[in-house]
Amino acid sequence: MALGHFNISDLSGFHAVVRAARRMKLPLMIGVSEGEREYIGLKEIVLLVQIAREQDGLPIYLNADHTHSLEKAKAATEAGFDEVIFDASHKPFEVNIKETKQAVEVLKSIRPDVIVEGEAGYIGPSSVIVETVPAESLKLTSPEEAVQFVSETKVDVLAPAVGNMHGLLPSMVRGETHKRLDIERIRHIKQETGAFLTLHGGSGTADADFVAAIHAGLTIIHINTELRVAWRKGLEKSLQTQPHEVTPYKILPGAEFAMEDVVAARLTLFNTAGRA
Ligand code: G3H
Ligand code: ZN
Repeated sequence: MALGHFNISDLSGFHAVVRAARRMKLPLMIGVSEGEREYIGLKEIVLLVQIAREQDGLPIYLNADHTHSLEKAKAATEAGFDEVIFDASHKPFEVNIKETKQAVEVLKSIRPDVIVEGEAGYIGPSSVIVETVPAESLKLTSPEEAVQFVSETKVDVLAPAVGNMHGLLPSMVRGETHKRLDIERIRHIKQETGAFLTLHGGSGTADADFVAAIHAGLTIIHINTELRVAWRKGLEKSLQTQPHEVTPYKILPGAEFAMEDVVAARLTLFNTAGRA
């Protein structure tokens, strides 16, 4: 069983994720990267999640995903996010450790209960459709690096590079190919660090690999590009079937239901894997 983490950037995404949580009666995490939370609004998303929790009693958590600047990490911590991911994974390993360690100290001094995640490997820049696998994402995190990263930074959660990458290749969008994970590496990293582990770049991963990776020790799984693809396809279909419609609340549900189905399917998979 792993916690599903779904990125959103607007109210349509929020509606989709909350409806899926309601429908499945399962906990999940909403993620907003720096760009996503700039668009929906930092304080707005905190309040929206708070309202969903209060109104429906839903176990929905909020994550400040891929936060590259300490100032933005501090702002998210002060605003009440449950988790902040401080991401210096594009920098040399020793610099990443130094900056993440400092971020953990600063954020915990603001709110000791905030969960801080760090990234020990780089898996590509963003959740978009890419023509080729970014070369940098081919370097995987070794168990030794993972141990050093966790023990020196004191992060609560570790995001390793284990065959995952952000975004989708066109063949993955068509469902012809899938991302494959290094399951033994995940198992070793889990055994050696004992840390909670997040899988980033979950979109397009083979279902069997998700299941095996959850058994091997994953705690959280991030899905973003699959939702973005569903949003676009749902929106296009909605516009095609209602060519003269101009009312947003009649057009946008097409995109929302498409995203909701993706969230519901992923939640089902993540929550049945590993169950006896
Ligand atoms: O932090 C967000 C993710 O890691 C999502 O990656 O777009 O490949 O699903 P993805
Ligand atoms: Zn990510």
